[in-house]
Amino acid sequence: MCGIFAYLNYNVPRTRHEILCMLVKGLQRLEYRGYDSAGVAIDGGNDKNWEKNFKSIKLIKKRGKVKALEEEINKQVDLDMEVRFECHVGIAHTRWATHGEPNFVNSHPHRSEKNNEFLVIHNGIITNYKDLKKFLESKGYEFESETDTEVIPKLIKYMYDNRESDEISFSTLVERVTQQLEGAFALVFKSVHFPGQAVGTRRGSPLLIGLHSKECFPTDHIPILYRSGLDKKSGAICDEASLQPLGETLSMEFFFASDASAIIEHTKRVIFLEDDDVAAVVDGRLSIHRITRSASDNTSRAIQTLQMELQEIMKGNFSSFMQKEISEQPESVVNTMRGRVNFDDYTVVLGGLMDHIKDIRRCRRLIVIGCGTSYHAGIATRQVLEELSELPVMVELSSDFLDRNTPVFRDDVCFFISQSGETADTLLALRYCKGRGALTVGITNTVGSSISRETDCGVHINAGPEIGVASTKAYTSQFVAMVMFSLMMCDDRLSMQKRRREIIDGLRILQDQIRQVLELNEQIQVLAQELTCERSLLVMGRGYNYATCLEGALKIKEITYMHSEGILAGELKHGPLALVDKMMPVIMIIVKDPTYVKCQNALQQVVARQGHPILICERNDEESSKHAYRTIEIPHTQDCLQGILSVIPLQLLSLHLAILRGYDVDFPRNLAKSVTVE
Ligand code: F6R
Repeated sequence: MCGIFAYLNYNVPRTRHEILCMLVKGLQRLEYRGYDSAGVAIDGGNDKNWEKNFKSIKLIKKRGKVKALEEEINKQVDLDMEVRFECHVGIAHTRWATHGEPNFVNSHPHRSEKNNEFLVIHNGIITNYKDLKKFLESKGYEFESETDTEVIPKLIKYMYDNRESDEISFSTLVERVTQQLEGAFALVFKSVHFPGQAVGTRRGSPLLIGLHSKECFPTDHIPILYRSGLDKKSGAICDEASLQPLGETLSMEFFFASDASAIIEHTKRVIFLEDDDVAAVVDGRLSIHRITRSASDNTSRAIQTLQMELQEIMKGNFSSFMQKEISEQPESVVNTMRGRVNFDDYTVVLGGLMDHIKDIRRCRRLIVIGCGTSYHAGIATRQVLEELSELPVMVELSSDFLDRNTPVFRDDVCFFISQSGETADTLLALRYCKGRGALTVGITNTVGSSISRETDCGVHINAGPEIGVASTKAYTSQFVAMVMFSLMMCDDRLSMQKRRREIIDGLRILQDQIRQVLELNEQIQVLAQELTCERSLLVMGRGYNYATCLEGALKIKEITYMHSEGILAGELKHGPLALVDKMMPVIMIIVKDPTYVKCQNALQQVVARQGHPILICERNDEESSKHAYRTIEIPHTQDCLQGILSVIPLQLLSLHLAILRGYDVDFPRNLAKSVTVE
């Protein structure tokens, strides 16, 4: 949800053209986070003496996708693209609109005033912006946009104009600004008053810094500078607390970004900032400041090595990331199980939970919390979790869980499922549960994400980066992760050994069975052609496959813009049956699990109302097939795993429907990946 990217080169000569290419490439990698409009800010002026160009900042912004910004950049005839900068800071942003429609003035970077003295890029929401705006207006500041963000550059300009001393540092000003802000933010600042410097900070929204130098770094940690106590001169950068590579000349490149996908092609060495860290680069040195030190604080930030590979975030020969990610599922589910499920001795070990498993087994209740697809993964695995853990399991939508102030106790264990690990509602629910003393467990796909860092323990699903806005492979891997956890909860119960073995045998052949389902692609494409012009699509099922209906309907609505509803077949007679007639397309999921007979009844009821059901059923299910208008036949597996196979035809159907209807599969309107606002 909004992508921010900044590039700082120090003693690494770069032409303006190279800098702009770097910024545009960074935005393209982050585009899945928002694609309403985009913008960059770089040093202006065309003097060959590059330092003279520090006096002005050039802003280039454009409504639309990053491609439109790139075209706008190419039209800038007044900019000499060959000017070479030994040191330069460029900031860039791709927007998902929250306040104000996508247009030129509302797009980022936002500025302090017409001379562009201070510029900022922002991901998040400032909730007290109205009060701040009123205050700044009373001081004579004029606002040009409808955004919440615009108060930030104006506030820093106000702080700067009212500074007590000319010695004040950029990071001190930023700290003063963030003390006034409420809400969520990741910010990067640039200013004509602090040439060659960049300051980034975060609270609630992610921000990481990539580091690149030809020389090696003497340390793998950077100590934190605390304003109160340590640093009396308020803002002076101490050499011993700043990061500097070994070698005669200090030459460094820094990349600030919302996530690792924008950094990976430049460096794998990164620092994940924590809430309220203020990271400043001055004279090529990075230092991290905090105002006060709390007892639980780490006194340094580790320089970590990203495990991601560039090709994981490239589309390759696929027409969309979504198509790529659907087809990766045979491998991604195996990666989720790798090193965890031992198919020889039927054991499951989730290393991240080992220290806490005894407490988890003793708990009174399991609460599984998530949004959208991640919530559906919780619904999909609730039954097996209840069965194998013999504990009450609640599955909750993060926003609703918070709205209700749901009672949570110390002997509860709360799971937070999130692909991005940054979803604001889920993160807030996590903090809520932590505050009430519950043990918290993260099920995430993003190493270093807020949820993975703030939970007491967790499981990385290892599905690999998911770029397509519609979640696919993350869902099946979350599903597998929750099944593995359920198995781990009962490994010492004799009465459950047979069931455990059957499920583990099911997991063993999952990869092959997913491949078989993917082979249905062409058949599903034909079905999509028949359904292209429909306005609505109902998806019905029950038991283990209720979640498949919800998830399938979500996929259909989010990328095809058709109305689609996931309906619990048991509820059919209580309302939804009224929608069924000979015109309404109905997809029914009927598999040979304990709900089979009841699903047959629902099928009869649909047929009796002249409906033409399209069935997702098991191979050779003649009973169901004889009433179907069409069938999509999937392999049989264990009841609790069947949802992994039955969701894939719906993922494919939504993909083909969206393509046929002429929509951009990876960039559905009004949506963005990683929802970092409430
Ligand atoms: C739908 C989809 C969303 C996400 C939801 C939660 O295809 O992707 O519904 O599942 O926004 O996101 P995460 O899992 O990142 O917390």
